Amino acid sequence: MVKARKFVLVKHFVGSPKDSDLKLVEEELPEIKDGEFLCEAVYHSLDPGMRPYSGKWQKEGDTMMGQQVAKVVQSKHKDYPVGTNVLTDVLCGWRSHFVSSEGQGIMTKLDHLPPEIPLEQALGAVGLIGYTAYFGMNDICQPKEGETLVVNGAAGAVGSLVGQIGKIKGCRVIGYAGSDEKVKYLKELGFDAAFNYKTVDLDETLKAAAPNGVDVYFDNVGGTFSVTVRRHMNKCGRISLCGAISQYNLKEPLMVPCQDFMMVSEEIKSQGFLCLSKSERFPEAYKQMSEWYLQGKLKLDMHWTEGFENMPKAFFELFTGWNLGKAIVKA
Ligand SMILES: NC(=O)c1ccc[n+]([C@@H]2O[C@H](COP(=O)([O-])OP(=O)(O)OC[C@H]3O[C@@H](n4cnc5c(N)ncnc54)[C@H](OP(=O)(O)O)[C@@H]3O)[C@@H](O)[C@H]2O)c1
Repeated sequence: MVKARKFVLVKHFVGSPKDSDLKLVEEELPEIKDGEFLCEAVYHSLDPGMRPYSGKWQKEGDTMMGQQVAKVVQSKHKDYPVGTNVLTDVLCGWRSHFVSSEGQGIMTKLDHLPPEIPLEQALGAVGLIGYTAYFGMNDICQPKEGETLVVNGAAGAVGSLVGQIGKIKGCRVIGYAGSDEKVKYLKELGFDAAFNYKTVDLDETLKAAAPNGVDVYFDNVGGTFSVTVRRHMNKCGRISLCGAISQYNLKEPLMVPCQDFMMVSEEIKSQGFLCLSKSERFPEAYKQMSEWYLQGKLKLDMHWTEGFENMPKAFFELFTGWNLGKAIVKA
């Protein structure tokens, strides 16, 4: 018998997520049967998207959603021997241990990772985060050499990769993040310009840093930030709608100025996308992201939290801008 711990979503989040919405409970897992294997969590991913998607995909009483890297610790399945590292699907959830039957709940085994790629990057540059940056840039933004790219949430997991992909593609990259420390970090990553959006006038910085306009906008934030950036878009500009973190904790929808005619007359393409919908193309995204990673063309720093019991706190802090790079919990 294994005593497992898990966080249950006892109440759907309303406004900002809070402690009382989640409850840490213990459960006894049964002995594994033929075709089953027992996994122990190694790293947990924390993603702002868990806030809106838990409301859409989960019911109260479910284990809080989230992806993890786990290790097989007991096995009665020939394809998953003890010691195998696996990447779970996003609904596996915040749990210390789980039993998989015939590979259920497993997205992929991680034995294909070369030794130069640390295991935790399976939740980062060579996992869903990296694929999100890749698909949003490749499919929607389609950046060309010499174009100007704006990305917000730029010092976070997706945003920092997007900016680096922009540089690989030969763009002038302008990043926005929420502290001076993050701005310094973006410059170290090679961004051409970076600003603390909390202390500058966004419109003025765009006039100064993108005097010829913005061709490509990778949007992680939404809301009034986007209203301002759109005013600076060039004709036939492309906007990748990746996330809307400024909206996730709002109780009422934000009212912003209508820009319909401007979008029409400037022939701007604006498209939302969901990385998970492109699973048949994950091998393509892995190939490109791992190649760039191994070539040293991009990096993704991890923002570590120690201890499974600290998951709620680390999750809540995503919405205060506490993390730099990919937020991850060491189980
Ligand atoms: N479409 C998809 O398939 C997909 C997949 C993964 C992620 N996403 C989305 O991509 C975005 C980035 O995700 P991530 O995992 O890389 O997270 P992240 O950027 O590592 O962490 C969140 C960051 O967002 C910023 N932030 C928090 N509240 C904000 C607000 N009210 N206004 C502006 N910025 C705010 C904070 O940085 P600052 O200090 O800079 O404010 C915070 O550090 C999220 O919107 C997420 O939902 C989409």
